[in-house]
Amino acid sequence: MVTVDRVVWIPADRAYAESLDAGDPLAKFRDCFVLPSDDASEPLIYLDGNSLGPLPRATVEQIAHVVGSQWGAGLVRSWNTWIDLPRQTGDLIGAHLIGAAPGQTLVCDSTTVNLFKLVSAALDAQPGRTVLVTDDDNFPTDRYVLQGITAQRGCELRLIRTDMDLGLSEDALLAALGPDVALVCLSHVAYRSGALAAMARITGLVHEAGALMLWDLCHSAGSVPVELDASGADMAVGCSYKYLNAGPGSPAFLYVRAELTDLLRQPVWGWFGQADQFAMGPVYDPVPGIERFATGTPQVIGTVAVAEGVRLLAEAGIERLRTKGVALTSYLIHLADHWLDPHGFRLASPRADARRGSHVTLYHPDAWRINQALIRAGVVGDYRTPDRLRLGPVPIVTRFTDVWDALDRLRQIAEHRSYEDQPAERTRVT
Ligand SMILES: Cc1ncc(COP(=O)(O)O)c(C=O)c1O
Repeated sequence: MVTVDRVVWIPADRAYAESLDAGDPLAKFRDCFVLPSDDASEPLIYLDGNSLGPLPRATVEQIAHVVGSQWGAGLVRSWNTWIDLPRQTGDLIGAHLIGAAPGQTLVCDSTTVNLFKLVSAALDAQPGRTVLVTDDDNFPTDRYVLQGITAQRGCELRLIRTDMDLGLSEDALLAALGPDVALVCLSHVAYRSGALAAMARITGLVHEAGALMLWDLCHSAGSVPVELDASGADMAVGCSYKYLNAGPGSPAFLYVRAELTDLLRQPVWGWFGQADQFAMGPVYDPVPGIERFATGTPQVIGTVAVAEGVRLLAEAGIERLRTKGVALTSYLIHLADHWLDPHGFRLASPRADARRGSHVTLYHPDAWRINQALIRAGVVGDYRTPDRLRLGPVPIVTRFTDVWDALDRLRQIAEHRSYEDQPAERTRVT
């Protein structure tokens, strides 16, 4: 992981943000995306790429090619081109974003389904160990999948108490470990606060207890450097519609450490995980290697979008993205401290740069109404329960002036209490 020196940000005038944009080595990447026009009188500021990333222009062209030429003209013959895409795209993610040597990463299914497959396989591989561990603030789908698996099998789910703003306590994790634990499943970057877990150290603690470690990378892949091989992680899952910019519902990825792959057997016995798939044999016999974690026919168009998204991130470079991510989020925190604290806001993310991913969360008792007012003012972030505003300045497209303008609009909303006309009832999740 890169270490980024803490910069002391002093000036709060917009000219300073402009000077940061002028010196930004990643500035040119903004033009690689389809974004709402900057020409409007009050241009839209998008701080929600950590929920749904923007559309790369290259993806529009590449999908048009795949649909028009490969599907349209090539028809079923194009499967020769498509069949290896999930593994090839997995290797691309492995090489550029998650520190995984080839042959350990596969693009397939959704994060939720991949969690189910890997957690089930980990339990089956360790018959004497019947406890799964996660934290009580992990993303809902992770907790629900583990709840479902333990309910089906009569196993135990052990939940670690976690501070929702500061992230996981390693002491609490240690207290939950024991000879009965099969697997620990944690998020590398917490979805609400952005708290960044110490992957290598935590993986080491879990291994000392004899358990396997599975990381959820949804909020870290593409935003912070991830070193799965070097940290000794056993398994990982992640989505591609956030920082990988592959679009709504694009397929997820999974990682299994090479030495473990052939020892594990996942529970969805589909024909794409079968050895000699087109022999159409009578019995399921999983293919050696990472492809045994495939299930059915891959989503070709979605996988093409993942590859395009990853290519752009690779060109930008994960170290440079991280450096800019730290600079953007610490700038945002600096402005929030000065402008918003007097209006009842409080930082609900770790303050230390090394402990934070690429988004920042602010607590305010009226966060729901403020977020609605902010959307009306042309700034899209999101609301997260309880009473939190989550702002994601994704490094590949966000400018320092976007952060300045967004916080300026937020300051005005707070100062004039112009959110008070918004309904207090929460109506939908953005
Ligand atoms: C940490 C984390 N895990 C999992 C998911 C979602 O999984 P899926 O892609 O299956 O909806 C999200 C979605 O926001 C997430 O933030």
